[in-house]
Amino acid sequence: MHVIVVGSLNMDLVVRIPQIPRPGETLLGGVFKTFPGGKGANQAVAAARLGAHVTMIGCVGGDAFGREMRDTLIAEDIDTTHILVHPESATGVALIQVDAAGQNSIAVASGANFQLTSADVESAMQAIEKFDVLVMPLETPLETIYTAAKIASQRGAKVLLNPAPAQMLKPDLLELVDVLLPNEHEVALMTRQPALQSAADLQTAAQKLLSLGVKNLMVTMGSQGAILFDGKTESNIPACPVQAVDTTAAGDCFVGALAVGLCEGRSLLAAAEFASAAAAISVTRDGAQPSLPRREEVMQFMNERKSK
Ligand code: RIB
Repeated sequence: MHVIVVGSLNMDLVVRIPQIPRPGETLLGGVFKTFPGGKGANQAVAAARLGAHVTMIGCVGGDAFGREMRDTLIAEDIDTTHILVHPESATGVALIQVDAAGQNSIAVASGANFQLTSADVESAMQAIEKFDVLVMPLETPLETIYTAAKIASQRGAKVLLNPAPAQMLKPDLLELVDVLLPNEHEVALMTRQPALQSAADLQTAAQKLLSLGVKNLMVTMGSQGAILFDGKTESNIPACPVQAVDTTAAGDCFVGALAVGLCEGRSLLAAAEFASAAAAISVTRDGAQPSLPRREEVMQFMNERKSK
């Protein structure tokens, strides 16, 4: 069960605050904390803690954050051979505010993440003999994502794309994707709809994305669960109700867990139920990577839910 992640590594600089400040407003928050994050690294750690062998492909700067990010992944038994160091760049940094309800706002300085090239991805993937699933968010250059998707699909691996942060994507990339995993805001942005007000709006947007070549669309909706559109049917994956402390990286946890479920041969729906349980646990804890659960916790959580 081998998962490759092509993606970002960021150090998260986090302040908890009663509410997210409006433009021009200064609010006093709580204690400042740093957590290893970045959508790519979070997805890699999620998959590794849930039992996959994971290789991370990405870039860090030659600074202390870069060293810390790599060491954190090494401690999770993730293969970091293909994380390149660009001494002239700063490691990616995310400035995060988390409000009293656990919702966040995130500003990212991508730094070294945008030094990753298609040639880097190509040579890293060539060096890997076999892998089952490729996982990617959109925090590295788009051409690296296209290159990786092309190689993975030629080699018979499943391609999971988490279009976050959202941008318009061309059909030649979307056609290579087995499962597209946006949240509802990303769906709205990718389909140029101002906002999705109703189930009908979401269905229309989903049809638009499916018509561009996406095989399966899994829309994650936080406490509302997720919806899977496979071109024929629409299936709801209920959320597991929990008290949210910090929702940062819940989407990443879902993506990493879904990759593991698919590696294990679960159906998309069964993998999504596993992912939904993992993501629910992650929102009950602070920070990005520290919040990601291990396999035993997820199995226990699922068993407890079944027996209720
Ligand atoms: O999805 C959460 C992540 O988004 C954070 O860890 C931050 O680094 C940004 O990439």
